[in-house]
Amino acid sequence: MAEINERLFREAKKYIAGGVNSPVRSFKAVGGAPVFVKKASGSKIFGEDGKTYIDYCLSWGALLLGHAHRDVSLEVKKAVEKGTSYGAPTKIETEFARRITKAVPSMERIRLVSSGTEAAMSAVRAARGYSKKNKLIKFKECYHGHGDYFLAGKRGVPENLSRDVLNLDYNKLEQVELALSEDRDIACVIVEPIAANSGLLLPQKSFLEGLRKLTLRYKALLVFDEVITGFRFCFGAAQNVFGIIPDLTCLGKIIGGGFPLACFGGKDEIMRCLAPEGNVYQAGTLSGNPVAVRAGLKTLELLKTPGFYKKLNDKSELFYRRLDKAVETSGVGVCLNRFGPMFNFCFRDKLKFKKFFHQLLSCGVYLSPSADEVCFISSAHSDKDLNDTANAVTYALSRLN
Ligand SMILES: Cc1ncc(COP(=O)(O)O)c(C=O)c1O
Repeated sequence: MAEINERLFREAKKYIAGGVNSPVRSFKAVGGAPVFVKKASGSKIFGEDGKTYIDYCLSWGALLLGHAHRDVSLEVKKAVEKGTSYGAPTKIETEFARRITKAVPSMERIRLVSSGTEAAMSAVRAARGYSKKNKLIKFKECYHGHGDYFLAGKRGVPENLSRDVLNLDYNKLEQVELALSEDRDIACVIVEPIAANSGLLLPQKSFLEGLRKLTLRYKALLVFDEVITGFRFCFGAAQNVFGIIPDLTCLGKIIGGGFPLACFGGKDEIMRCLAPEGNVYQAGTLSGNPVAVRAGLKTLELLKTPGFYKKLNDKSELFYRRLDKAVETSGVGVCLNRFGPMFNFCFRDKLKFKKFFHQLLSCGVYLSPSADEVCFISSAHSDKDLNDTANAVTYALSRLN
């Protein structure tokens, strides 16, 4: 049945660059044709190939409630009837912003945008506008979307941007200190508080604390990109868990309940620089889209259910115990990195991931299709899903030796 995906991929390539609308979907990192999805529900995706897969990619982490949650879908259906975009303010945007700012107190005021890329780009622009400085410190292991500054040095991005971007190593505070002390033109340091785009890298506690201290000392802003971590482990962001207060924060993925909705925000004083109050320009035709905001509001309401995160985290822990055992007995050079409901198999020999991925796919388990990407668990994953997956992992690992 894999031939169906190959045929659909060939057809897609005729009209869509690379056959996909975002590169990593193409399975380039694991080989073969991507699974073309027909529909999805709960923890499962249903392929055009007639197969059902337990999904651990979950639209790259956007679906903490799983696919097509009934209540979110109903809300969206109602919203669509009322018009799909107004380009004018609505009460629900204020309500959404109120809930976000309450859950993530460092975000005193926010602005809604349509993607994580937009949130990160806009946060950095706000930081520059506020500080009247130009440069940016980022970390090689982090991803902040495809804005020019985040891809400095890459093809298609003006070469002169590289002068304004310092690309340092995650968890290496001494590099940040050196950069900040030598260059007084650094507007901000942007970081994923847990780096989830180069496998799964946890921060040393002293790293995040150190970033906060150094940015205050050298008058640069600290931007937390919480597009992945926001609302993933608690009703709030990783900053709530780590007890660090950044100046600006970016959120995306989960808060949109599967719709194009993201936001950035922070100290009132900084947000006041944005047009129309200030003169740092930032805008969007579909920003605060009413259908997306309704989906987001309903999602937040469901996430607030007492015990939601405890149940999800406990379920994930039990699952990891089984996976740890599978890893241990396999004798394969692999370890399981995890934090709350996100995890990543880190193979010593990266090539082994490809085989592992395809072995699992043939057992009906769909991991994020790249060794660098993390996998996610949703509230829709049942004990049976997790048990079946642990069995499949044991089998797939046994085939690697
Ligand atoms: C930490 C982080 N920031 C920003 C982005 C970009 O978000 P989007 O793909 O919605 O533009 C991503 C996407 O994966 C991300 O993981």
